[in-house]
Amino acid sequence: MKILRLDIDGLRCIGHARIAAAGGVQFLQGANGAGKTTVLEAMHLLGYGRSFRPGQRDAVIQRGATESVVFAEVVREQGGRSRIGLRRASSQWSARVDESDVASLVELFRICPVVCFEPGSHALIAGPSELRRAYLDWSVFHVEPDFLPAWRRHQRALKQRNAGLRSGWADHLLEPWEVELAEAGLAIANARRRVLQELRADVAAKAAAFLPELGTVQLHLMSGFGDRDSGSSEAIRLAYAEARAQDRERGHTRFGAQRADWAVSFAEAPRREHLSRGQEKLTALALELAQVEHFRNRVGEWPVLLLDDLASELDADHLTRVLDWVFAAGLQVWITGTAIPDILQRRNETWRLFHVEQGQVTPA
Ligand SMILES: Nc1ncnc2c1ncn2[C@@H]1O[C@H](COP(=O)(O)OP(=O)(O)O)[C@@H](O)[C@H]1O
Ligand SMILES: [Mg+2]
Repeated sequence: MKILRLDIDGLRCIGHARIAAAGGVQFLQGANGAGKTTVLEAMHLLGYGRSFRPGQRDAVIQRGATESVVFAEVVREQGGRSRIGLRRASSQWSARVDESDVASLVELFRICPVVCFEPGSHALIAGPSELRRAYLDWSVFHVEPDFLPAWRRHQRALKQRNAGLRSGWADHLLEPWEVELAEAGLAIANARRRVLQELRADVAAKAAAFLPELGTVQLHLMSGFGDRDSGSSEAIRLAYAEARAQDRERGHTRFGAQRADWAVSFAEAPRREHLSRGQEKLTALALELAQVEHFRNRVGEWPVLLLDDLASELDADHLTRVLDWVFAAGLQVWITGTAIPDILQRRNETWRLFHVEQGQVTPA
């Protein structure tokens, strides 16, 4: 999948940008604060409905503007084009696909798969578990068709049970939601386990390329059920019934798919505390690129890859490896930087340059 046209209106410092992209590598060059990351953010919004930068959702709307609008024309390798648009206004998202309103942003996510590596990506290793769940669930969502309905059922049941716990509902009112939590939660855990298993080989290959000194890599899933997950939803349901008294005290459901996490460990760095910040970064990069490969193998398309401030994140050797892979794979990549790295300048392959200055994006 490739984004051939990207229009951005009212997003942070970008008032109005019309970008005609090419299939391969795009390099966005500009000074600090020029708006380079904002261009990547625009694509991330299409693929996830949220920014990769922390902060309030409405912080993306340009100061003084009432809305942010991102529009893209995407083309699939297997043929077919889509025109997708996303608008943020009045604290609400709305989305369009091929000139029609769609009920859910999920429709955009399916059309516009995006993977991003940026200066904050090291948090994937040692940051909060929600980042790791989001990483894994992106792959699960794209390759396991039953995941989204299970996830929606689970969200609804969790909300209801938590509300019930806080409002003193009787047992028989909590029970149906516990059945839902157990069934949908187990389906989610199983899907996550399958996909993490599939990702292993790609992660191992990327880790061997980027972090050979750390030895064999392992990924472990924590389902969120602890030792209550014996593979039987009936056993989980019983565990929810047993947990009611304590959950009422706490005012929320203490275990389940919403608490899942996973960990990466290396033979030479069994715990994440053993990794330096630089190794965390490279591990995150290996995970992101592995996810790109896995997606391609399972879905038959490349996602779009965003690499923010790449040269300031990586040394020359690792930068060369990434560029080698990117050019060999032939996927669409958007790279930003304050200067064009020599390593990129010297390459024989063609790539497209854009200058970004005070929110203006112009082809070189
Ligand atoms: N809501 C907003 N409205 C207007 N400008 C914003 C808003 N949010 C951030 N900015 C500005 O946008 C710029 C951020 O651009 P960014 O894409 O991070 O630049 P770069 O990646 O080129 O360093 C900064 O100058 C910042 O102050
Ligand atoms: Mg930036």
